[in-house]
Amino acid sequence: MSKKILIVYGSRWGSTEEISNKLKQQLEEKKYEVDIIDLKSKQKQISNFNDYSGILIGTGISIGKWTKHVKKFVTKNMNVINNNKNFIVGIFLSSGLASEQEKRDEAIEKFILNKFEKMGINLGDNIMYDAFGGVYDLSETTKLSGLMQKMLKMAGKEDPEHIVVGERKDFRDWDQINNFLEKFVSKIQ
Ligand SMILES: Cc1cc2nc3c(=O)[nH]c(=O)nc-3n(C[C@H](O)[C@H](O)[C@H](O)COP(=O)(O)O)c2cc1C
Repeated sequence: MSKKILIVYGSRWGSTEEISNKLKQQLEEKKYEVDIIDLKSKQKQISNFNDYSGILIGTGISIGKWTKHVKKFVTKNMNVINNNKNFIVGIFLSSGLASEQEKRDEAIEKFILNKFEKMGINLGDNIMYDAFGGVYDLSETTKLSGLMQKMLKMAGKEDPEHIVVGERKDFRDWDQINNFLEKFVSKIQ
């Protein structure tokens, strides 16, 4: 019987969603059975974590924050994440900060390690994590609201290399994402 992996994610503008779908596709190519849940959707009942060999949890970052649905999920399922050493957990995010390779450690510190510390969750050997780059979309087809576009344009004044008016800039490194998945899979017995 093939092993089952659960992917749960929160994504405001689709970047983390695309990463999650890509991870699902790659896992299925490796013959895993995958359930994927957009945490903001209504049908997010997870019947039994024991059905799964591993879980991937992804979030986008806005103004330094995870999505509220991801925060709720992690808080609610703290015990599952903390206690079961046979259960492999992979945490990932898509953020502007991690768009530069040299800033990935800073993004991990700020958006993963500090947050888990605040929640009182120890990251044991069964938990791995990484910070992926983000998408800055100020093109005509952007999904950002007017207010969000305004905020991003303001941030762009400090960071004109990454945030460009009229353009969609994608800083996700698919090799990095692939390496993360390989590492995750290698931990599953
Ligand atoms: C309004 C706005 C605020 C953002 N704030 C941050 C931030 O505080 N830190 C960061 O690293 N990236 C920030 N970003 C970049 C996002 O993390 C990036 O666009 C990411 O790909 C979003 O993922 P999602 O589409 O899955 O939500 C921000 C983007 C927008 C549009």
